[in-house]
Amino acid sequence: MSDVWHGLIAEAEFPEEGKLAARIAGWSVLVVRTDEGFSALNDRCTHQAALLSGGKVRRGAIMCPLHGARFEAATGRCIGGTYADLRRFALRIAEGIIEVAVPDTPPGPHERPVET
Ligand code: FES
Repeated sequence: MSDVWHGLIAEAEFPEEGKLAARIAGWSVLVVRTDEGFSALNDRCTHQAALLSGGKVRRGAIMCPLHGARFEAATGRCIGGTYADLRRFALRIAEGIIEVAVPDTPPGPHERPVET
């Protein structure tokens, strides 16, 4: 298994609200912009697998909309709750385009969010 880079969006077009959810090669990816830059995370809360992208980004953290766990965007570390850290994906900006690297195999059941 290896990671493959995928172009996502022009940096200049990144949403003002500071987050963007995308499906990339079967992975649910949440890209968050903070003061430190961009970070790509698995869009799946490690508590009960809710989509994190419905949550708010504040002070460099994303809050799960279901029960309120908070995860530091830059690292994926759980900082408001006792849950596992989020999986992070490599991110780079190439010629103004945000690119994210995801595994070349689709996510297993423990890495997919529950979608309603
Ligand atoms: S599912 Fe995210 S805090 Fe419970």
